[in-house]
Amino acid sequence: MLDQDVRGMDNFATGHQRNLDEVRKRVGESRWSRFSFHESDIRESAACERAVAERDFVLHQAALGSVPRSVKDPVTTNDVNTYGFLNMLEASRRTGVRRFVYAASSSTYGDEPNLPKREERIGNPLSPYAVTKLVNEIYASVYARTYGFTSIGLRYFNVFGPRQDPNGAYAAVIPKWIASMLADEDVQINGDGETSRDFCYIGNVVQMNLRAALREDLPSSEVYNVAVGGRTTLNDLFGIIRDGLAQQDVNYRKAPVYRDFRAGDVRHSQADVSKARAELGYTPLFDLRAGMSEALPWYMSFLTDQATR
Ligand SMILES: NC(=O)c1ccc[n+]([C@@H]2O[C@H](COP(=O)([O-])OP(=O)(O)OC[C@H]3O[C@@H](n4cnc5c(N)ncnc54)[C@H](O)[C@@H]3O)[C@@H](O)[C@H]2O)c1
Repeated sequence: MLDQDVRGMDNFATGHQRNLDEVRKRVGESRWSRFSFHESDIRESAACERAVAERDFVLHQAALGSVPRSVKDPVTTNDVNTYGFLNMLEASRRTGVRRFVYAASSSTYGDEPNLPKREERIGNPLSPYAVTKLVNEIYASVYARTYGFTSIGLRYFNVFGPRQDPNGAYAAVIPKWIASMLADEDVQINGDGETSRDFCYIGNVVQMNLRAALREDLPSSEVYNVAVGGRTTLNDLFGIIRDGLAQQDVNYRKAPVYRDFRAGDVRHSQADVSKARAELGYTPLFDLRAGMSEALPWYMSFLTDQATR
């Protein structure tokens, strides 16, 4: 979009080559020729230096997501999310990157009870994953004070959109439920369904990454909520996906299956995005329904394709 030279780095731990192939098709060969890719691991510091060398901006997204994954294997989550993050931060500082933007997380609010969540009020982390994301922010702020190195943390709330993996034990709720409904399988809700989230379409996240990287007059180390500012219960989300599919002539008629609450999950989450609006000029362009109408056709075509292979 901005006609920049872009370098990507990923070890495909949870990502897929097919997503890059799709982006290639969408942007066309001429733009794609300005993209290069390093298949490597952020836990290797030399690989991080090679990836960020001669870059102006780093948008660091790589991590092992998922609260339950971190509950099952806190050591690997810590290794990737904390040590890998530090490698990327250090490589960016050493090679003179102008701005380091990184994926922080709403999980950092932990047991802070107030809604909506405001950046300056955080509680205690409720999962090993949340610890790693908090440590990222602490490192970023220490790097600002110690080295004057500029970074911006984006506390994503529940992100969804095309190409998010619907498969596997740690799939996010929206792609997982879409896949279950399309296969006419049971949809499982953890808890009573009144758990709520501020679901955020990927288009809003991209907007914030670009704003955070390109805005000239920002303080040296800041964090911003990235969400819509809404709050939707899992029960309502179930209805929104089911209705969205009905508009595409897919009629799902099963009731959801309720099971136990999940360890480490925050009960309610909703962002105050006024800081991002005021300081970065952020305007969320997609609410949950608008994002869903972008995402659903993609999943329908992707999952049909997968089923016929
Ligand atoms: N999806 C959400 O709702 C959400 C919410 C808050 C924060 N985040 C954060 O946003 C970022 C992106 O998450 P996502 O949901 O797109 O997850 P994802 O799993 O789709 O993307 C993470 C990417 O990191 C890569 N990766 C993992 N370990 C790596 C390693 N050791 N070296 C190199 N690459 C590695 C994976 O292969 C994958 O492509 C993560 O930092 C995550 O913690 C996501």
